[in-house]
Amino acid sequence: MQVAVVNKQIQTINADAVIVNLFEGVTAPGGATGAVDAALGSSDGVSGNGAISKLIQLGDFTGKLNEVAVVYTAGLIPAPRVIVAGLGTREQFTLDRARQASGSAVRKARDLGCRRVATIVHGSGIGGLQPREAAQATVEGALMGAYQFREHKSKNDDRVIEELIIVEYDAAKLAEIEAGVRAGQIVAEAVNAARTLVNRAPNALYPETFAQAAQAMAARVGLTCSVLSEADIAQERMGGVLAVAQGSAHPPRFVVLEHQPRTGNANLPTADSRPLVFIGKGVTFDTGGISIKPSENMQSMKADMSGAAAVFGAMQAIAGLNLPQRIIGVMPLVENMPSDRAYRPGDVITMMNGLTVEIISTDAEGRLILADALHYVKRFKPRGVVDLATLTGACVVALGEGVAAGLFSNDDAWANAVLCAAEAAGEKMWRLPLYPEYGDKIKSDDADIKNSGGRVGGVGTSAYFLYRFVEGPDEYPWAHVDMAGMMFSSENKGYLVKGAMGYGVRTLVRLAQAGT
Ligand code: BES
Ligand code: MN
Ligand code: ZN
Repeated sequence: MQVAVVNKQIQTINADAVIVNLFEGVTAPGGATGAVDAALGSSDGVSGNGAISKLIQLGDFTGKLNEVAVVYTAGLIPAPRVIVAGLGTREQFTLDRARQASGSAVRKARDLGCRRVATIVHGSGIGGLQPREAAQATVEGALMGAYQFREHKSKNDDRVIEELIIVEYDAAKLAEIEAGVRAGQIVAEAVNAARTLVNRAPNALYPETFAQAAQAMAARVGLTCSVLSEADIAQERMGGVLAVAQGSAHPPRFVVLEHQPRTGNANLPTADSRPLVFIGKGVTFDTGGISIKPSENMQSMKADMSGAAAVFGAMQAIAGLNLPQRIIGVMPLVENMPSDRAYRPGDVITMMNGLTVEIISTDAEGRLILADALHYVKRFKPRGVVDLATLTGACVVALGEGVAAGLFSNDDAWANAVLCAAEAAGEKMWRLPLYPEYGDKIKSDDADIKNSGGRVGGVGTSAYFLYRFVEGPDEYPWAHVDMAGMMFSSENKGYLVKGAMGYGVRTLVRLAQAGT
């Protein structure tokens, strides 16, 4: 989708649809919406008399968040239709609500077959948001809301928005809006790239093809990318990655993406500056292995690489934005399959850091590949590490499906930095405790630790398992995000589209922008 910014009044724009907005409870629209309303009035051109006012008076539109109404303009303005987006109440208005309203309105325009769509910036006028943030949210919402996954469809959908025009009448805001629009486009495209990886069928996306996609993306945006083969992984003694991968015909890959700020960006860091490191769980399909999962809904386990997809998307955006600091993205990629050569319950494996692990369940595989990655990244002397993983069903039970991810951390300041980034991104995240008692539940009779502490407290014991690979002399500020409940959206709502959510990309980008 092409995105342009123009300095005009929205009612003068020639497009298949123009998008305006309305707060819930407002009876006489003001601002750009008022101007469109007046243009759609009965010859007197007075605000409060037009077709949008009529919609409100008749009770056909109340302005609830994500409510949309279509008004036909009968030749009174160049665009044949106006889409009115509900923002919810003014008191409850947030940046994320601007993003949601934009998603709902743009998806409506797409469903109607509009190819050229113009929109005002939601929230920068009466909403009181900064123009740059509001413009970024409007574009993010628009591009995320219009996303479609059609890779596996044999026929194209010809309803595609080709051009999005961001319309601002106040020339003083244009430069800020332009900057926000460019950032929003980079971020939304990265979220959509993550969604596409998650949505892609697991016979098409497996460790080798995921790694190839990372190499292609890195070459395009200017990241360095190294891909460790199975032999390289064995050389590094990543016992966890090797064990999980050994049952699959698809060998593992271990991908390291690195962003170094290019010249031309002010505030270049010193060469020895410590990087931020992002790690994503990349199980391209999780059958459970020998501890096999029930077949019902097993297809959703193609999304068990959502953490890696978030890291992929975040790194793509970070390069696109040329953020002024060094950032490293790490993706251990495996397929968890049962077979005659699969690892089994009772096996004891030796991890990269030397700890031995008794396998209780081959379905507790994510923590094994993450453990090696958490140890591997110590070589970078990270300033902070975040791992994202669809790690436990227990986290979904605790926080709900599509509601929030869980956060665990060994460092309060780092935990708060991640929570703040998530808040700013509009991605819900809630901190859970990393009590040492969870460590007691994963002690093993025969090995150093075991990979499952059982059903009870399963989200805490999984986090503590990971912590065992972070702690020690080279310990770094670490945050673990269990995003098992955030793989898919069950509905089209706001900027969410049924299918992969693309959760995590925006939080990581915000965190990288926050600097420190
Ligand atoms: N990938 C799953 C976790 C998961 C479950 C994600 C449902 C999204 C939705 C993970 O590998 C897993 O199987 N975890 C087990 C751990 C148990 C065996 C200790 C679980 O949560 O049941
Ligand atoms: Mn599993
Ligand atoms: Zn898994």
